[in-house]
Amino acid sequence: MYDNNLEMTGLLLTAEIYNKIEELQVDDLFADLRKQYWDIKEKTVKRPIVVTINDLQELYDIKDPDKVIKTLPFLEFEEFGSTIRITVLDLAVKWIAKHEQGIDYIKSNPVLAYYYEKNHSLDVSYEESKQDNEPKEVSRQWADSLISQIGNQKDGEDLLKLVHVMVPEEIDQTIDKLVLNQDQKDEVNKMIKAIQFRDYLKRIGLLEIGKLLFVGPPGTGKTSTARAMSAKLELPILEVKLSMITDQYLGETAKNIDRVFDLAKKMNPCILFIDEFDFLAKTRSSDENAALKRAVNALLKAIDEISLIKHRVLLIAATNHPQLLDSAAWRRFDDIVDFPLPDTNMREAILKIVISEIEGSFDPEEIAAITDDYSGSDLRMVVREAVLNALMEERTILTQDDLIRAVGEFDKRTALKYVPIDNR
Ligand SMILES: Nc1ncnc2c1ncn2[C@@H]1O[C@H](COP(=O)(O)OP(=O)(O)OP(=O)(O)O)[C@@H](O)[C@H]1O
Ligand SMILES: [Mg+2]
Repeated sequence: MYDNNLEMTGLLLTAEIYNKIEELQVDDLFADLRKQYWDIKEKTVKRPIVVTINDLQELYDIKDPDKVIKTLPFLEFEEFGSTIRITVLDLAVKWIAKHEQGIDYIKSNPVLAYYYEKNHSLDVSYEESKQDNEPKEVSRQWADSLISQIGNQKDGEDLLKLVHVMVPEEIDQTIDKLVLNQDQKDEVNKMIKAIQFRDYLKRIGLLEIGKLLFVGPPGTGKTSTARAMSAKLELPILEVKLSMITDQYLGETAKNIDRVFDLAKKMNPCILFIDEFDFLAKTRSSDENAALKRAVNALLKAIDEISLIKHRVLLIAATNHPQLLDSAAWRRFDDIVDFPLPDTNMREAILKIVISEIEGSFDPEEIAAITDDYSGSDLRMVVREAVLNALMEERTILTQDDLIRAVGEFDKRTALKYVPIDNR
């Protein structure tokens, strides 16, 4: 987006200023720089940042850095030509300010915005550019730093087998690719605001916020919404399935629960997503015993003791079987978000999203009308079948008939599906 000279000078100036001004934080560095100089052990970018020829080649694909550097009078090689630094800071500062893309570049870089706001007449704001800058929690490196630390602790490795950690930069699911009803949208927005105004909420003592229970049949977008929130809120997400942390020796289960919640507190800010939340409740009804009660109590207590406002952990639990949960479990959540099967309009909207990249002409409204009781995931499966069937005939352009046929096949298969005894 920016020309090489600007990016190179910008990088060097950012390094120079970050090295000097202790007040600047690692979150003030732009993402590419942070990734290049990230120290996995220290979980930060250590000072001083030293820029090498190699860095420039890796970051900006600059072929002949030596040539470029010679054209800029304020840059100089050091240490036998392997590192580069700025000789006259003021010249570099003025050069960027005069560059035609200079102001845009400074606005995209909180370290520079900080410097120019204080020392120059340019109209830039540190606060504003910081808001647009991606925080470190978005990156895999951040999660890996924490994971490597935890992995080194006693039982750390076992713990990491129970939890699946994803970071925003790895998540493809976006909110706008999900069809949500107004309640669901409101809930997502409420959490965005709660995180944004966390300090305020803390100050006024409003701590009971940030525990959500997603309730709904399979394939209605619970997991997808939790992941999309991770991407949207720029928070890593820790996913656990309650069945996975329920040990055959139930005594271990309570311990596992505590360890998972501790991990979430260590990874903060983050989302802790507990799937199959009914799992322990389900076990309880079939075989009541003291160890199981302890496990359930450990879970309830852990939920009580975690807070978005205090620990910066957003808790989301999901269940397909809300009827299995007792009032003690329900009470712990400050919001219940319903994920019903999509109605006709929602089905049409979901279909439109799923087929948006597929060539052909379709009438999603007609398909929506014949897919009562289909979940979002069922609709995805229908389209996948249609695509595969067309591929069998070497076609990549689909027709409405392909979709209708796939619905027919899906209905046949659903009718054949094994129905478990307690659902009959
Ligand atoms: N409302 C929706 N809008 C768009 N896509 C949807 C919607 N609901 C489900 N899907 C799609 O269906 C697939 C499965 O959804 P997801 O895994 O989020 O469901 P779930 O509610 O977590 O199901 P389960 O209870 O079985 O875990 C995803 O690929 C998702 O994109
Ligand atoms: Mg799910």
